[in-house]
Amino acid sequence: MNALEKLEKIKIDVETALAEAKGAQEVDSVRVKYLGRKGELTSILRSLSDLSKEEKAEVGKRANILKGELVAKFTQAQNAMESEQSNSVGKEIDVTLPGIAPRVGTVHPLTRVMVRINEILISLGFKIAEGPEIESEFYNFEALNIPLDHPSRDAFDTFYIDKEYLLRSHTSNVQIHVMQNQAPPLQVIMPGRVYRPDAVDASHSFMFHQVEGLMVDKGIKFSDLKGVLSMFCKTMFGKDIETRLRPHFFPFTEPSCEVDISCIMCMGKGCRVCSGNGWLEILGAGMVNPKVFESVGYDPNEYTGFAFGMGVERIAMLLYGIEDIRLFYENDVRFLKQFK
Ligand code: DAH
Repeated sequence: MNALEKLEKIKIDVETALAEAKGAQEVDSVRVKYLGRKGELTSILRSLSDLSKEEKAEVGKRANILKGELVAKFTQAQNAMESEQSNSVGKEIDVTLPGIAPRVGTVHPLTRVMVRINEILISLGFKIAEGPEIESEFYNFEALNIPLDHPSRDAFDTFYIDKEYLLRSHTSNVQIHVMQNQAPPLQVIMPGRVYRPDAVDASHSFMFHQVEGLMVDKGIKFSDLKGVLSMFCKTMFGKDIETRLRPHFFPFTEPSCEVDISCIMCMGKGCRVCSGNGWLEILGAGMVNPKVFESVGYDPNEYTGFAFGMGVERIAMLLYGIEDIRLFYENDVRFLKQFK
């Protein structure tokens, strides 16, 4: 078979193959067989140089014309297959089926609880303030009456960035910034992230969230603290919830207390969640230590104030009955989508 005969045969073979091809993929493999890099027509075009001058002119011309024709045929066949495919897809549509609902995200449970805490306290007259997460020793410790050698610093001492700066271990640092920038009276809440050298387990995380509170004015009394916190707890957990203040120690408050609420699971009867004693510890609080006022230049003889700090994760876990703190940080949608 000479080259011209081969071209004739290719033309017929392609037509037959295309007539038999089922689907776009088969059309494409026919195309590759003839026009691909090692295709039959391609190799004829490549070997033109082996032919005599006259043959080359004739075969070259015919081969190029054929190539043009084949390209057009393949395109046409491909288009035909595609439109057939989309027609048949169209035929399968059942307009009576329910539509596909778009996936709508939900607010993260921690954000939800944090917003709720803020709302309640804002309704009691507090304003939001924010402060840095990368903090100097002065704001995180010294100004809060936690000196270098104080034992309570151990639980907090961590994540130093250099000799002076560290990731804050509580939101109490913001108290100092606020008081340095504003004169009393003031009534602020300070929500944010904090960092601790805690090994991660079901109830500990190296990072969690707190909301801090601070109120300073002439004549602020411990009973004001008690009133604000019991009002807060009743609004947050339910009107039948009791609060109890237990003496405690914090360097930045004097006197200090821990605040418990009657167990929201068993209403104080005693259950697994409250370890049988009917109370759940919920936050730390106290009257601002005069030393803290001195460190920001407030006169402790003129002003008094109270402060408190609560863990957002702890409250969210109690409210939703979540038993593992790690669930908050894993971004598992099966967990997150339950909070609608
Ligand atoms: N900073 C304390 C902590 O992280 C919480 C706290 C307790 C804050 C008593 C206060 C307070 O403002 O008065 O454990």
